[in-house]
Amino acid sequence: MSVSVYKNASLAQKPGLYDIVVKDGKFEEIAPNAAAKYPDATVEDLGGALVCEPFVDAHIHFDYFYTANLGSKANGSGTLFEAIDNWSEFKKTLDKKAVRARALNGIRQMIENGVQYARTHVDVTNDKQTALEVMLELKEELKNYMQIQIVAFPQEGYYAYEGGDKCVELALKLGADVVGGIPHFEFTREEGVRSVEKGFEFAQKYDKLIDFHCDESDDEQSRFSEVLASLAYHNGMQGRVTASHTCAMGSYNGAYAFKMMTKYKKAGLNFVSCPTENCYLQGRFDGFPQRRGLTRVEQLTENGINVSFAQDSISDPWYPLGNGSLIHQLDFGLHLAHMMSVEQIESSLKFITTNGAKTMRVDDYGLEKGKSANFVVLSDNNVIDAVRNTSHVLLSVRQGRVIMRKKREELTTKLPE
Ligand code: FE2
Repeated sequence: MSVSVYKNASLAQKPGLYDIVVKDGKFEEIAPNAAAKYPDATVEDLGGALVCEPFVDAHIHFDYFYTANLGSKANGSGTLFEAIDNWSEFKKTLDKKAVRARALNGIRQMIENGVQYARTHVDVTNDKQTALEVMLELKEELKNYMQIQIVAFPQEGYYAYEGGDKCVELALKLGADVVGGIPHFEFTREEGVRSVEKGFEFAQKYDKLIDFHCDESDDEQSRFSEVLASLAYHNGMQGRVTASHTCAMGSYNGAYAFKMMTKYKKAGLNFVSCPTENCYLQGRFDGFPQRRGLTRVEQLTENGINVSFAQDSISDPWYPLGNGSLIHQLDFGLHLAHMMSVEQIESSLKFITTNGAKTMRVDDYGLEKGKSANFVVLSDNNVIDAVRNTSHVLLSVRQGRVIMRKKREELTTKLPE
């Protein structure tokens, strides 16, 4: 029986210092001065550093990592649609070894930034399921580092791409966990609705979750989140359906948005917002004033609807930057969503931890006795400083095992007293 104690941890929104006791890969106790009860334990003093649940990236594309400058043309317009066109050409050349190497590079960067859970959308609108095969292998190989969920994502649509619906079904049969879609990219509103209906049919047939790219547009007429909500509600799939992006909600009129809040709540819809990605891609047809492309994070939160922040891209045709850091996304998200009161910042870690875990329906998650000892240690002592400094993750522990450790920065600047 191995026992480790991480002494003197700060916890979000709790005063004082706590000792975290880990026994056989699970949390045994989290309490002030608990270390004294375990004289034979291995002890590490955290010196007041903030400890929280591991980060959850509920929306990312592993198969697109590091493809921004690889053969696919530069995205001159900076729009979603040019990115999809450019990717469409490049993906014909996918090579298994290269896809794996690029994915592993980005996943390593995510782990170094404290991410232990990720939902990757994998483009399945392709003749060969090369990327999907790689992700299914990585999901298994990396399970001691990261819990990966795979979305069967038809980047070019169920119907806008000939046979897209069949590609999604094949991917689900091959082992994808979640049904994806992109209704705003179909030719018509009607085909968009039909794609959502087809997605629900698949989810019920194969017992899968649903996560659609939804209304990733500034077009206030893009209203597929209402279709997702309606079908989630009428099919009794509360909590199992996610609408990603929903940028158009930022442009809806107040009356429509007000009505939809009660519908989203009843439908138990989850939302994922990608702050850096969407402030870059959206607002491209506005001139000035220019919209910021984010969904209504504050209003959804105030209405008790689950929203999380995710990064979407690491250097791909949609977005040229991205570094694996969800603290970076949190920083941008809080700014862009106008959520900067002390209370909002202090309670904000949920956007990159528990809310994402809820979306992914991870049960064994949280700093509680009996749960798997999964946690991260940050380079600041409280949440406000962690966001303000875009804190580094110094330590990532999974099932009681250290999977990543970074040295604290040594500061050398010396100013006069
Ligand atoms: Fe995406």
